[in-house]
Amino acid sequence: MNYDIKDIKLAKRGSLRIEWAARSMPVLGLIKERFSKEKPLKGLKVACCLHVTTETAVLADVLKSGGADVYICASNPLSTQDDVAAALVKELKVGVFAIKGEDTKTYYRHIKAALAVKPDITMDDGADLVSSIHQRPPSIHANIIGGTEETTTGVIRLRALALEGKLRYPIIAVNDAMTKHLFDNRYGTGQSTLDGVIRSTNKLIAGANVVVSGYGWCGKGVAMRAKGMGAKVTVVEVDPLRALEATMDGFYASTIKEAAPKGDIFITVTGDINVIRKEHFQIMKDGAIVANSGHFNVEIDIPGLVKIAKSKRATRDFVDEYTLRNGRKIYILGEGRLINLAAAEGHPASVMDMSFANQAFSAEYMAKNYRRLKKQVYTVPEDIDKNIARLKLKSMGIRIDVLTPEQKKYLTSWEMGT
Ligand code: ADE
Repeated sequence: MNYDIKDIKLAKRGSLRIEWAARSMPVLGLIKERFSKEKPLKGLKVACCLHVTTETAVLADVLKSGGADVYICASNPLSTQDDVAAALVKELKVGVFAIKGEDTKTYYRHIKAALAVKPDITMDDGADLVSSIHQRPPSIHANIIGGTEETTTGVIRLRALALEGKLRYPIIAVNDAMTKHLFDNRYGTGQSTLDGVIRSTNKLIAGANVVVSGYGWCGKGVAMRAKGMGAKVTVVEVDPLRALEATMDGFYASTIKEAAPKGDIFITVTGDINVIRKEHFQIMKDGAIVANSGHFNVEIDIPGLVKIAKSKRATRDFVDEYTLRNGRKIYILGEGRLINLAAAEGHPASVMDMSFANQAFSAEYMAKNYRRLKKQVYTVPEDIDKNIARLKLKSMGIRIDVLTPEQKKYLTSWEMGT
């Protein structure tokens, strides 16, 4: 089996950590049981471009139990957990192409290696795999019946591709499932982003001025968790409805220009480019900390910062100090890459349980239904979404009521008033 990882000797440690994650992923455990019997992915090659974490390893195990051959390349150069990559290769016989800290050239070489297996299904997080496929001759996707996409940024890219009429095969937008974004984006990004900031800086959040750029589901989670830890939180948001929502959720809404001189810690989660720029760095306080938790490292204009800095040095793991010509120091975390996966371990397993249950069910759905799907971006079927919520509640020992026949009728009738 072909692979490219840091060190196979790390496998034992990786296996123990994967076992730990699996304990918090009961929905995937149930899917694995059924997949082992029914083999819905038998004979299919699944190429995944995902963060190589313990949670991804649990998903890979489920896909293998369903009969698939699984190959994984990293969806970010800094998010790979090298011990997990080793365990995936050694214990689970998954072809992994990922090394933490790989440079851009190696990152794309690894994507190419995953594509070289001639996959039947692609599983993307950020759409780099699909984008690479679409920049190559059609022969590269000869076998592909469909794909899935994990994240907001990826879904945006794929919808743009579909709108131009250029999408070459159907894709299911896992991100858009309720059991994905309501929980993973909000509670997963919320907790793991603060975790990444804290692990890399050991700064006290209580009393700090935290500026969160973006108030989508991820931004909401980050703002909520920072507030919960005692920060004074400002939200920067371009959408008037979201800015209003942030205000009524109890945050200060502001422009980045107004927030720049006040913030102690800045966190970008917009999915857009250059949201913190040179002119904002110029007016920040000495010691300001700037991190990103959006998918790509484009939200903080680091090349712009380099231009106004007279020196740069690494001061701690995942902390780069830039000294500006005005004498102030700005600290960039994790090279502007998503800090929750660069400096921490990403979302906790219990929330990835639902996201990756959507991935497993969607791969099965694609295998069964691809013949009747068009070259479009599809949402996860509602019955799959609801089923995942039911299974998760059950695993938590939570029961919910069902409507009485009278209540059901009431909800579909118009005659009855007060
Ligand atoms: N994205 C965010 N957190 C993750 C995790 N723990 N594993 C895989 N992908 C993730």
